[in-house]
Amino acid sequence: MIIAVDGPTASGKGTIAKALAEHFGLPHLDTGLLYRAVGRQVFLNGGDPDNAFDALAACGFEDRMLRDSSLRDEATGGLASRVSVHREVRSALFDRQRAFAVQEGGAVLDGRDIGTVIAPDAQVKLFVTASVDARAARRHREMQDRGVDVPLTAVHADLERRDERDRNRSEAPLVAATDAYVLDTSELGKDEAIAAAIAAVENARKEL
Ligand code: DC
Repeated sequence: MIIAVDGPTASGKGTIAKALAEHFGLPHLDTGLLYRAVGRQVFLNGGDPDNAFDALAACGFEDRMLRDSSLRDEATGGLASRVSVHREVRSALFDRQRAFAVQEGGAVLDGRDIGTVIAPDAQVKLFVTASVDARAARRHREMQDRGVDVPLTAVHADLERRDERDRNRSEAPLVAATDAYVLDTSELGKDEAIAAAIAAVENARKEL
């Protein structure tokens, strides 16, 4: 069983994908980390993330970079969003994601284009979303918990900028697959969102 979990930044897709993987005993790949690693490598190379050639040259990052916790910071997320518009980068990262998806026994992958490009054949597709206000408030709280003090308005503006770029790029834009189950987490707490996602997967499995 392949479970594809897509959605915008701070929608809760990562938390949900992790919980689904645990619940169903499947391996999990956070594909955003791959784009984040490319973004970080471009920066280390002194390259330009908006330049396809520089971004492609950064796709040969080493595996150990994926374990670097600083990949999760906001600046790296912004770089990831910028390198991810290049077709060359998306195809360089395709095989790795596809191989993970089709491994024996199944897998959970989360990202932006799992249900549409990486695994259009996934048995279960979830599109996790939430209002920009709810996502900005969540991200802001998370940052405060980590001791990062940024005004809510700045977090809000940054999310809108990321959304705009992820939705409007020509290559594999962020969009719900036509056969995806849309889960809006705006009004849901973490445990409620996870329970709703598990129920959606169970339902989709029954229909197979
Ligand atoms: O999910 P995330 O915030 O870690 O993703 C960072 C950026 O990577 C996101 O803004 C767009 C890009 N990305 C992508 O284009 N396709 C994916 N499957 C995952 C992430």
